Amino acid sequence: MILSPSLLSADFSRLAEETTNLRRAGLSWLHLDIMDGAFVPNITFGPPVIKKLRGVTDLFFDVHLMIEDPARYLEAFKAAGSDMLVVHAEADRHLQRTLTQIRAMGLKAGIAFNPGTDIACLNWLADDIDMVVIMSVNPGFSGQGFIPASFRKIREARALLDSLGAADVPIEVDGGVCPENTGALVDAGADILVSGSSFFGGRHYDKRLAAFAAAAEGRGNPRRGSEWRHLPAADSKH
Ligand code: DX5
Ligand code: ZN
Repeated sequence: MILSPSLLSADFSRLAEETTNLRRAGLSWLHLDIMDGAFVPNITFGPPVIKKLRGVTDLFFDVHLMIEDPARYLEAFKAAGSDMLVVHAEADRHLQRTLTQIRAMGLKAGIAFNPGTDIACLNWLADDIDMVVIMSVNPGFSGQGFIPASFRKIREARALLDSLGAADVPIEVDGGVCPENTGALVDAGADILVSGSSFFGGRHYDKRLAAFAAAAEGRGNPRRGSEWRHLPAADSKH
């Protein structure tokens, strides 16, 4: 299991320091929630913030685009230093083209599904994606309650990907994730867990990471997505 802490719940007045502390605590991914006030009822930040953070950290940038027609901004997010761009199935009429463009730019391409969206399009996109994101809350805000139907969706997504020859494609789960549901999520097929409010709710990030890791111990597939970090181990830079 890989933990991808959501910057949305970090202290926005000292983001650079937050990334340094995450790296020191042993994290290798960072989830960046981009909201446009149209696809979701909230506005966060855009490429300039990512670019500044890229200058101070080597964390793997898992960029979650909650924006309408994301293809308009792919170049800007690449130039800012994103490693992976995740687009929503509901936000783009030409998903296959957008996913292909992301990969052609040399980035990882992910597809996200809102809680009410069927995952059947994976039948036609499995060859074009590097990651699937199952939203376990309706996107827009951190701190919302986990939607239980997400468990069955994760299992179905895993089974569908495996049946399509995409056994290496990891599943990320985003929304309401905490140490208490981590074991069940990993058992259902989650490889990467996003956590905002639960992770940042504790001051000592190494202890927060340990709580999630302990809950996932001995479960799941430790391999999927694990090679996408910039450096093999924590503390080698800072
Ligand atoms: C929700 C975002 C999530 C959110 C997670 O719109 O996509 O990444 O920040 O926050 P928690 O873990 O608090 O649900
Ligand atoms: Zn997110």
